[in-house]
Amino acid sequence: MAEILDGKEVSRVKKEELKKKIIELKEKCGITPGLAIIRVGEDPASEIYVKNKLKACASLGIHAIEKHFEGTEKEEEIIKTIESFNTDQTIDGILVQSPLPNSYDEQKIVSHVLSSKDVDGFGIMNLGYLLANQEQILAATPLGIIHLLDYYNIPIASKHVVIIGRSQIVGRPLSILFLNRDATVTITHSKTTNLKEITQTADILVSAVGKPHFVTADMVKVGAVCIDVGISRVENHVVGDMDFDSIKEKASFITPVPGGVGPMTIATLLENVYTLALKRKER
Ligand code: GUN
Repeated sequence: MAEILDGKEVSRVKKEELKKKIIELKEKCGITPGLAIIRVGEDPASEIYVKNKLKACASLGIHAIEKHFEGTEKEEEIIKTIESFNTDQTIDGILVQSPLPNSYDEQKIVSHVLSSKDVDGFGIMNLGYLLANQEQILAATPLGIIHLLDYYNIPIASKHVVIIGRSQIVGRPLSILFLNRDATVTITHSKTTNLKEITQTADILVSAVGKPHFVTADMVKVGAVCIDVGISRVENHVVGDMDFDSIKEKASFITPVPGGVGPMTIATLLENVYTLALKRKER
């Protein structure tokens, strides 16, 4: 029976620690960390994610603002807003909530975020640093997963990590994070033909697909560490990619959904805002 990787509890502990550091930063340096979130369109999941991010910022004393665009505006208008946040001294991190409506060139828009304010680590500079094993600001979900494994003292070096999904937000950066920690990494995706054969060899299996019950117990090695990044809504319940009830009988550790990776993402984002705020005087 697997031990639960309790992201909710670990994120609570991390946020408590961060709250103290933020108070100290305010008292000693007069700096209140600031986050600007840009949301475009009416994606219901994004609306909830952003609301949760704003709430978390408020509870930790981070100054956070949301700029919402309806989705009918020209790209230039969104870029102008990014540029005004780039020069705003009270803003340390800028986040463009993904996905943008299809009519926008997301990469082009995000490329206007100053790399010193790239709180998501999605920009070319931060991705380059990651690839060069000189990690700077790292994407919140991948780093949150590493923090969760570290908290439970789960070793990464020499382990075979299999990641299902090659997204810009999770799969790709996470694969390099694991590689930088000396894991042997396999990335699988929608064109992978022998998925089960590969997942069965995983010491650490990560799924970031967004399809309920995509990963079944027969795909999991006995004793594997299972990390579920998927979030889907089924009959008003939030569920992950993994068939939790059967996999927990086989795995050594497993993240629940909700309460696993999700809260770690938020805690890590807040840490990133703080890290950027520490460098405010260098900007
Ligand atoms: N959409 C889902 N996760 C994320 C994230 O970590 N950052 C941004 N900007 N958008 C997201």
